[in-house]
Amino acid sequence: MSVIRTIAEVRNKVKKNRALGQSIALVPTMGYLHQGHLQLIKSAKRDGHYTVVSIFVNPLQFGPKEDFASYPRDLERDVKLAVDAGADVIFAPEVQEMYPIPCLTGVEVQQLGNWLCGKSRPGHFNGVCTVVSKLFNIVQPDWAYFGEKDAQQLAIIRKMVFDLNYPVEVVGVPIVREEDGLARSSRNIFLNQSEREQAPVLWRALQIAQGMYFQGERESAEIKNAMLTEFGKSSLAKVDYIEIVDTINLQPITQLGSKALVAVAVRFGQTRLIDNLTLVEEKCTGQ
Ligand code: PAJ
Repeated sequence: MSVIRTIAEVRNKVKKNRALGQSIALVPTMGYLHQGHLQLIKSAKRDGHYTVVSIFVNPLQFGPKEDFASYPRDLERDVKLAVDAGADVIFAPEVQEMYPIPCLTGVEVQQLGNWLCGKSRPGHFNGVCTVVSKLFNIVQPDWAYFGEKDAQQLAIIRKMVFDLNYPVEVVGVPIVREEDGLARSSRNIFLNQSEREQAPVLWRALQIAQGMYFQGERESAEIKNAMLTEFGKSSLAKVDYIEIVDTINLQPITQLGSKALVAVAVRFGQTRLIDNLTLVEEKCTGQ
């Protein structure tokens, strides 16, 4: 399978397969694929779509002091993993292909992107929305798969699709974790050994939130305090935020009902990790 580098070529390929009656799915990624990304590809294939995986480290969504240059890249390995997971096409354009001249147009979903991760990453979600918008226009998928790992990104993309009437069905895929609960992320490789050992504290803190919710706790402040105490036990964890928000509009909730999302961002040295969990009323039976 060849890697497609140009917009014209991927459009052509998709057009041919659409003419054959296939539904088209897009899985946008920045590469350095892991089990989380592969789960999106497998989900798209399981749902029966001709699956385009884009691999593009999008400069627009990185701040000037962020890790665009050092973001891990390994296209050869990614191609193999994506193909094994069932990808039909890999679209991996160079920056020059996506942004041949400075892009003066941007897509902004107001309000939703200004806080949580947007607070410490100003402009980040505009960069995400702009590139996803371009990818939607290039590939013209019927379906697009995103991970629940980036819950704010998923909510923002859903709002963009609704507000701008993209003819795309957005599918959210549950978070894939390491055995010790750490959410899989391309950035986990930046953790040194002691940071890696402490990193599952994100998952433990989220479990504490879920446990308290099961027990009937409905005060966000109480849950956040207990989570903060758990983070306090990890000497290397520097909490960026712990928030409990509405799953759709991402607004803070003080008194919990249903549909609450607990979202955390924590720094370990230079590495910023995020994780989240949607509180559920009943213990999952695995059925
Ligand atoms: P990237 O971080 O490479 O993630 C690509 C997709 O994989 C996203 O939808 C993300 O939520 C999903 N993902 C990552 N880790 C996951 C995990 N552990 N479990 C489930 N899904 C996971 O997110 C981006 O790239 C970019 O912002 C992008 C949307 C491609 C725009 O540039």
